[in-house]
Amino acid sequence: MKIPLLSRRQLLTSSFMGAAGLLASKSAAAALGRACGLTPTQATGPFPPTPEQLAQQSDQDWDLTRVTGKAERAKGQVIEILGQVQNENCNPIPNATIEVWQACTSGKYNHPNDDSATWQDPNFQYFGWAKTDAKGCYRLKTVIPGHYSNDPLPKDDPEHWERTPHIHFRVWVAGHFELVTQMYFEPSTFDYDPTLTPEYIEKLNFLDRLLRPVPAGEKDRIVIPFLSGAARDGLIAKYGVPKSSVDPDAKAGEFTLVVTRAK
Ligand SMILES: [Fe+2]
Repeated sequence: MKIPLLSRRQLLTSSFMGAAGLLASKSAAAALGRACGLTPTQATGPFPPTPEQLAQQSDQDWDLTRVTGKAERAKGQVIEILGQVQNENCNPIPNATIEVWQACTSGKYNHPNDDSATWQDPNFQYFGWAKTDAKGCYRLKTVIPGHYSNDPLPKDDPEHWERTPHIHFRVWVAGHFELVTQMYFEPSTFDYDPTLTPEYIEKLNFLDRLLRPVPAGEKDRIVIPFLSGAARDGLIAKYGVPKSSVDPDAKAGEFTLVVTRAK
């Protein structure tokens, strides 16, 4: 897969956390609150961006809620994903490339393999990229994706396949194995929509056939709580993100990505 080239402007805007000196050292990385055990790998799935889509998409930045040339913001609950790319020794890795792809809030992908009848959001940037800065940190702004099923089997069939909300991540670091994984949502995150209750998401997370086999001790590395209010503000301050650049109604979560050295 070709790695998209980020423009100088995009590199500058993704390297926003120079003031976050507390994230610089190995000990500080360990103090992020999450052990630096390897991030569990997950399937790529059928909807990564195609070479044709990569060639055609000019808006290749870290903010998926806005598409260049469109006046409206994407529909859905906005989230900030903040984190650090680390090696297995908890050392931060600058200049890592992170690619994400996901469904919009309706659960629809922008991909020829997604033949579901659900609506597509024309204001959502279905693929995004970020570079880690000198402290190994990255920022992504997106919306919580909808859950989806392309399975013709009825929901009460034990073989029915349904995906809980998730975001696909791919990480490239020189001298390291490519990491492909998926980020999931801690159910308490879903306190903003009466039609998507925490209980419902808990059930979807439990039933999801890709999340379920992840060992219990590793699930909290990829199932991430998204915070509001003072807790959110504390997290964005920790990463040096200017509050003025965060949507007032956005939630924020911390997703650490740990990669393996290839030599
Ligand atoms: Fe997916």
